[in-house]
Amino acid sequence: MPSAVKRIGVMTGGGDAPGLNAVIRAVVKSASNCRCEVIGLEDSFDGLLEPDRSRILTPNDVTGILRIGGTILGTTNRGNPFAYPVDTSGGKRDYSERCLEMFHQLRLNALVVIGGDGTLAIAYEFFKRGIPLVGVPKTIDNDIVETTNTFGFDTAVSFATDAIDRLHTTAEAHHRVMIVEVMGRYAGWIALYSGLAGGADVILIPEIPFDVDKIVERIRAREAFGARFSIVVVAEGAKPIGGKVSVIKEAQGEFVERLGGVGAQVAAALESRTGKETRYVVLGHLQRGGAPTSFDRILATRFGARAVELILEGQFGSMVAFHPPDIVAVPLERVVGRTRNVPLDFDVVRTARAMGISLGD
Ligand code: F6P
Repeated sequence: MPSAVKRIGVMTGGGDAPGLNAVIRAVVKSASNCRCEVIGLEDSFDGLLEPDRSRILTPNDVTGILRIGGTILGTTNRGNPFAYPVDTSGGKRDYSERCLEMFHQLRLNALVVIGGDGTLAIAYEFFKRGIPLVGVPKTIDNDIVETTNTFGFDTAVSFATDAIDRLHTTAEAHHRVMIVEVMGRYAGWIALYSGLAGGADVILIPEIPFDVDKIVERIRAREAFGARFSIVVVAEGAKPIGGKVSVIKEAQGEFVERLGGVGAQVAAALESRTGKETRYVVLGHLQRGGAPTSFDRILATRFGARAVELILEGQFGSMVAFHPPDIVAVPLERVVGRTRNVPLDFDVVRTARAMGISLGD
């Protein structure tokens, strides 16, 4: 049966991740092949709040963006239309009705919402209010449930691995301990994968609270067999046993707490305990920049094309997901409000231990 969908809106929300443009491109190209028009909505749901924040996207508009990081539509991790900030003192208003009206004014039949847990939760609320939509999971953190991968993760891991490789040579030359703090919020995927790929000696992840004594033990054991340097990869959300996550800025209003600082803390503790010169590097937003890897380009392209297929099939309220080797649809209901952490019995965790890597426990 031919689909009644003729106009699809697409938006990107939350922190950017390499591959967002690849999804937009795939949505535009595959929709246009099915004679559907695509409207790009700017800065996440802000594109449905103001009349001049949307534009038609033709295949010509998306030519050449496959390999480019960021998003041509802009993004924000503020501005939930159900609790929109209206002043600096934390005042909020519900503008969701305005978004629903704009959806109809723009003559949209469906939406593709590309985002992380926060954006997908907002999308689910709009789905319950009657907007036919499909979600596409995005985040470098790889912490969205029901999908084994989000695009952006592989690129972030590749960048962090390259950074660890570079630190190896200088660490070895100066007989130092080098600490690399990576992103990931409350999940240790980036730290675990980049640490394993980069040949780290210690990997600290939020799922396994660490004991500084164990890290010191590992560094001393390396000294004993003649390795006078060590590389420690620490996830921004890692914390000591009985301690707290290190926060640069507390949550305020709609801003979530900003993590960071654990690398410096671990460096200070290791330097005073081992007497070895210890330096730290925070990779920060560099992990979110640059061109997506080929893995992320392919995953993002498959996600975008599948999202359009689901829309044309009328499978709304779902999220595209990677269940290797397939791209499948899962209900958004099963995704919202949950975080995918590294399972402690995961084979990559066991493999890291088998390589002699200390996980700080
Ligand atoms: O969720 C992606 C992420 O990059 C996290 O790894 C990090 O904690 C956070 O976003 C940083 O967000 P912001 O750019 O808003 O400070």
